[in-house]
Amino acid sequence: MEDLRQKYIDRIAQAGDEDSLESLRVEALGKKGEISLKMRELGKMSPEERKTAGPALNALKDEINSALAAKKEALGDAALEARLQEEWLDVTLPGRSRRAGSIHPISQVTEEVTAIFADMGFAVAEGPQIDTDWYNFDALNIPGHHPARAEMDTFYMHRDEGDNRPPHVLRTHTSPVQIRHMEKHGAPCRIIAPGRVYRADYDQTHTPMFHQVEGLAIDREISMANLKWVLEEFFAAFFEVKGIKTRFRASHFPFTEPSAEVDIQCSWEDGQLKIGEGDGWLEVLGSGMVHPKVLEAAGVDPKAWQGFAFGMGIDRIAMLKYGIPDLRAFFDSDLRWLRHYGFSGLQVPTLHGGLSR
Ligand code: DAH
Repeated sequence: MEDLRQKYIDRIAQAGDEDSLESLRVEALGKKGEISLKMRELGKMSPEERKTAGPALNALKDEINSALAAKKEALGDAALEARLQEEWLDVTLPGRSRRAGSIHPISQVTEEVTAIFADMGFAVAEGPQIDTDWYNFDALNIPGHHPARAEMDTFYMHRDEGDNRPPHVLRTHTSPVQIRHMEKHGAPCRIIAPGRVYRADYDQTHTPMFHQVEGLAIDREISMANLKWVLEEFFAAFFEVKGIKTRFRASHFPFTEPSAEVDIQCSWEDGQLKIGEGDGWLEVLGSGMVHPKVLEAAGVDPKAWQGFAFGMGIDRIAMLKYGIPDLRAFFDSDLRWLRHYGFSGLQVPTLHGGLSR
């Protein structure tokens, strides 16, 4: 029995994997295993012999079983250890960084403009980019024969033959939002309407799609003086120069009376443009007192209400503020340009947090 014991203990110790352990188990303790056969022989023994052989065989069986289990566990541990060595990875290594996208200057400037006017009590209004020629022209006191229609290089929507609906256009300015807003909400009101506009034009400072922001303030006693104050507040905040001067030049727009084009103060030194200093002027917007016919078209009584309106190019003031020379590049989707002129997504313009980088 001692030989038997030594044989299996040695072989178990040498086993290299779980399969050979299993065949050892079958060989010793399986149905026809060496130890099992010995146990079957107990029956043929005398009771005296059985008294010593029985417990000894049982003890041997237990010992072999525990040796098998212990070896199995040791093999498992070794396998796990080997895998851990092989599959080790350093989770403390820095990750591979990815380039984040950037906020387009137009989006950034639109947010800046909105934040400044919101602070002065202006809500944001919107209108469709495809509008009827009534909203885009007639309601704004630009009748069919008016030269302003031809001047605007309007894109007309295609009409199938026999389709006699009134023409739709890609809006040529944000001014139709004035009409839509007053029609719906009446007076008094104080809104800005930023958005895309379209004209068939293309050179360094013109693209067929560009951006404007419309302003409209209607109440009982609103005057040109209020317009001037609001615009000067706006330019001081936007260009971040206190006391920036504006110049109002008499002009003509069909939808305002009187009308003014507004310039802001600037200097040109060594070809360097500086806003808010010097004695040069840069035209930045059109404005005026809303024409009574426009109020009427929008269902507002011109005898009871009056107010100012203005329209400003967002792309233009973005170019001026951030020194961007060519408008066409705004819409080329060139990643190098976007990385250079774009803003971090976390750079949200607010009056308390600052408007620019
Ligand atoms: N709609 C004009 C344009 O696109 C700009 C404009 C001028 C808007 C005067 C106004 C205004 O509201 O009062 O050229």
